[in-house]
Amino acid sequence: MLDSTLFPYRDGVLSCEGISLGSLADDYGTPLFVTSRNSLLNQYRRFEKAFAGLPHFTCYSVKANFNLHVIRAFAEEGCGCDVNSGGELFRALQAGVDPGKIIMAGVGKTPEDIEYAITSGILLLKAESLSELRQIDTIAGRLGRKVCVGIRVNPNVTAETHPYITTGDSKEKFGIGEADLGDVFELLKHLEHVELNCLDMHIGSQIFDAEFYHAALEMLLDVLATARSAGFDIRYFDIGGGFPVTYDPQKPATPIEHFADKLTPLLETTGTTILFEPGRFLTANSTILLTRVLYRKRNHTGKEFVIVDAGMTDLIRPALYQSHHEILAVRQHDTTIVADIVGPVCESGDFFARERTVDSVGEGELLAVLSAGAYSSVMSSNYNGRLRAAEVMVDGETAKLIRRRDTYEQLIQNEVE
Ligand code: LLP
Repeated sequence: MLDSTLFPYRDGVLSCEGISLGSLADDYGTPLFVTSRNSLLNQYRRFEKAFAGLPHFTCYSVKANFNLHVIRAFAEEGCGCDVNSGGELFRALQAGVDPGKIIMAGVGKTPEDIEYAITSGILLLKAESLSELRQIDTIAGRLGRKVCVGIRVNPNVTAETHPYITTGDSKEKFGIGEADLGDVFELLKHLEHVELNCLDMHIGSQIFDAEFYHAALEMLLDVLATARSAGFDIRYFDIGGGFPVTYDPQKPATPIEHFADKLTPLLETTGTTILFEPGRFLTANSTILLTRVLYRKRNHTGKEFVIVDAGMTDLIRPALYQSHHEILAVRQHDTTIVADIVGPVCESGDFFARERTVDSVGEGELLAVLSAGAYSSVMSSNYNGRLRAAEVMVDGETAKLIRRRDTYEQLIQNEVE
């Protein structure tokens, strides 16, 4: 949900910090992702305050929004990064993040990803299989290095969220289940170029109930005891991300402070530095997707459509996860309509909302699709020959272009004559 102090209506027109969204649309065109820098910072500071009682280190999960300026905003606050590929590692390094503050996840790291991570000197790689551990050991040996690793444990906890974003269940591909951990510890005793110093989990995303973390943590604490008695020096305990945000005001997210209260007593028994990997929590509600109404149409059944210039290529979450995104008219109206808000892409799944009550915006007016800061621009595509949207970041009275809109030339630049 939008922080109305950072996205206020002034004289009936929606703004981001000190700048009206109308003037941003005039200056940069639409569709346009508009991010409030101060909203990002507020979320990070709130997270840090909630867990201030624990020895911990927060690694922003850059997959949620990997724009260099977003990564940098957190890094300047002292935050590290969680990356999932060589490409994300490249982005974090380009943003100026200290490699010693970067951790790498990923169920299918390629040999190139692993070599890049090792030669960059990142803090640790989290392995998800015995084969991957052997692979890391071989590559580290070839490079003459000894590498810190974590193991991602699959705690077999099915967190209640959308099935596509639950990851801690043993039917999912992620992590190593309890039954195989004995083999992992045995293998690790024989590998000379890796050193186990972290236990890791990530049970899913947009998790409202702290009980799921609690259950998974209890299992991970047992693993910690086993690992220590096998002689491993576990210094980090990584509990992943997944902390929720409010998309729909009817379904408010559990406050982060509640998770902190519930989990701190367990986490402080570990005698480790706790690693957190929040993505969505830090970014989702700091960005809106600004889009212009192209057409309105009413069909013979009386159904209303508002056709806008943004589409599923900019924000695929409604199509992929049936997710709710609030939609506001940039200029407030006194009357409302009930309509489907849809994009220009040739798919019936290309919608932002169905049967939604919105202000009765006319053609040419602007709408703001909310909660577009996590898993939005990062999941965008050029499908239908569409140009990826531009992105701006607002800080007080200043707006800065942080990503140019794609051009037609870019659409074909990698194709060979
Ligand atoms: N750590 C790992 C290992 C992850 O896989 C993820 C997210 C995170 C941290 C950050 O999770 P968060 O704090 O953002 O919940 N595209 C989906 C979400 C996919 C999440 C993938 N992994 C969506 O739009 O809802």
